[in-house]
Amino acid sequence: MGFNIAIDGPAGAGKSTIAKRAAQELSFIYVDTGAMYRAIALGLLRRGTDIEDEAALAAALDVTEVGICYMDGEQHVYLNGEDVSSLIRTERVSDMTSRSSAIPAVRAKLTDLQRELARRENVLMDGRDIGTMILPDADLKIFLTASVETRARRRYLEQAQKEENCSLEEIEKDIRERDYRDSHRETAPLRQAEDAVRIDSSEMTIEEVVAEILRLVNERRGCL
Ligand code: DC
Repeated sequence: MGFNIAIDGPAGAGKSTIAKRAAQELSFIYVDTGAMYRAIALGLLRRGTDIEDEAALAAALDVTEVGICYMDGEQHVYLNGEDVSSLIRTERVSDMTSRSSAIPAVRAKLTDLQRELARRENVLMDGRDIGTMILPDADLKIFLTASVETRARRRYLEQAQKEENCSLEEIEKDIRERDYRDSHRETAPLRQAEDAVRIDSSEMTIEEVVAEILRLVNERRGCL
């Protein structure tokens, strides 16, 4: 069993940037579980699957294989053998992911893959249910959050840089809706594990959050 770090939290709290940097510092494998859910969602969109139709969803999942592989320390996610890493970050895929990841059959498809990775390697895994469901015995659990306003402002700046048209109000509304969906769903809702350390990144820089995580890891490993 590797040393396992679980990082959960809502969209836009900075999880992936922070998790990636902390994993690099620690020479751990960074597992972005959101990317796996996104790959499944892309497959469902491509097939035009009606996810409310149980039989159609089961048939689609039967022919959906998700894999991950690491190249130069970067995670690449595969859908039926195709590297879809650069195709899964659109709003359309985000929206489908938020809906489809609420369905137990979709989650069941990824649980074993995620646990197997953690069994084999030292991982820093980020998601929504890692500390509560996937790795309940993780060596360190972090719940990384930030205020809705901060998360909206960060996403707004990100999109403005990409010269995408967007309004701060719309982004804020979208974040509130997604938070609600992710934390009120029946299966694996987003919630803080009892033994997780809560970090609110609203007033912290990325470097400060990474430093705090490294401090916590050293503390758990008994380093002086
Ligand atoms: O972290 P992200 O934004 O890439 O996640 C995309 C969606 O997938 C988001 O709506 C929550 C969902 N998700 C999940 O249900 N469980 C996970 N372990 C990771 C992501």
